[in-house]
Parts: sequence; C-alpha cells; structure tokens
Amino acid sequence: MKVLGIDIGGSAFKGAPVDTQTGKLLAERHRVEVDAPCPTAQGLAAAREIARHFNWKGPVGIGFPGVVQGSRIGAVGNLGRNWEGQDGGKLFGRATGCPVALFNDADAAGLAEMKFGAGRRHQGSALMLTMGTGIGSALFHQGRLMPNIEFGHIPWKGKPIERFASAAVRKRRDLGWREWALRVNVFLAVAERISSPELIIIGGGVSRKSEKWFKYLKASARIVPARLHNDAGIVGAALAWEHTGR
Ligand code: BGC
Repeated sequence: MKVLGIDIGGSAFKGAPVDTQTGKLLAERHRVEVDAPCPTAQGLAAAREIARHFNWKGPVGIGFPGVVQGSRIGAVGNLGRNWEGQDGGKLFGRATGCPVALFNDADAAGLAEMKFGAGRRHQGSALMLTMGTGIGSALFHQGRLMPNIEFGHIPWKGKPIERFASAAVRKRRDLGWREWALRVNVFLAVAERISSPELIIIGGGVSRKSEKWFKYLKASARIVPARLHNDAGIVGAALAWEHTGR
C-alpha cells in the first residue's frame, strides 16, 4: 500500500510517499521548516504543502510529537500547547484534503524499526528512543506496541528529563559527545529501572553518528542505533495508517 508519511519534528515537517510493504520511500523527502513552538495555522499549512508537493490524493499517516488518542491530541512537549485538545485527525484531514491517521511520532518510528529495522524479528521487550528536540519513547513486547509512553517527561530536578538529556540540549549547551552521553546514561538508568527492556533502539539524527557517543553509553539492555535513522519517522507515520486500522 502507498501512504504519504509525514513526520512532525521540533523545527520541520518532513514527508514522503512510502511503500508500507517494503518500508521504502517512493520519492525524495520534502521538508518544510516551521517555527518552534509552531502556530497551528503554520503547521497545517506545512502539512498541506507536503501533500501538494506530491500531488497526494491517498491516505496520509502523521507522526505527531505529543500524546495521541484516536485522532485527539493530548499533552504536547515542544511543538506548542496550542495543539493540545484538538482533533488533529480532523484538522490535518481538512488541511491536506486526504484521510489522515495520527500517531505519536516515537510510536511511529518504533513501528518502522520493529518491522524493517533494528527490532526486526526481536520478540522480547524493546524500547525505541528518538533523540531530537525532545526524547520520544515507544515500548514493545512481542512486537506489540504500548502507545503513548512518555519517558522524556519523567521529572528530573523539577523538569522533564528530556530538557536535561535530549540531542537539542547537547547543541544548545555545546556539550561534548561524552559529556552529553553521560546525561543520556542518567535517562537510560531511569528508563531501565521502570521498564527493563531487553533491547534499546536509539534513533533521531544523532543515531547516524553513533560511533561518536554509543561507546559511552551504559545500560543492562543491548543498545543499537536505529537502522532507518531519520527515515524511521516518515516510514513509521505511513505504517501508522495501517496500524490504526484505517
Ligand atoms: C513529546 C513526545 C515525543 C517526543 C519526541 C516529547 O516532547 O512529549 O510525545 O514523542 O517529544 O518528539
């Protein structure tokens, strides 16, 4: 099946048509920059532009950086609280003129890694993490997802722990790879204490540079970089269409 996958990140909307059987992008991804936080009208216009760019008339799957229940948006981390409580499926459906399935972005990336990437054939428990503006998390057991796990929002020194250990913090504070990885270890220790996964898959842009910082990571679980890297978000968003039974 061909689905337009749109991955919403802290600073850009990225999309491409995806073959959900193979997990391959069918065209070069199209990227639209947005403000952070992102006004609702600007975000909807970005989704519309991506659908227009591909002249898309079919199903659309969207990975959204916040809690998603059905098509309703719950708590939102970095995109802006203006999105909270909205019927995202309806808003993006109107904006793109296409039927839309909405899903948490990390859950979507996890679906892609479990089906086509580093979690393929892994039947035990697995934790997918996306390191970007925030920290996204998705928990799987025997290939099945428990949606809307928000480990990035575990309180740490009075703030969500993603504000201490996300990839954006490394840039903002100009931390070295080792210094930042030690922060990630604090996060991993908390996440492991709560969920004890056998496998931890780490995605997001920084997963491409795993040779620079994975050597400093410490966890009981096996840690591997995401295999689809940044494409996991787009591929997963497309898979979300099927996953939600649309
Ligand atoms: C959001 C999560 C999201 C993660 C990565 C967090 O701030 O709360 O829902 O998965 O950022 O985008």
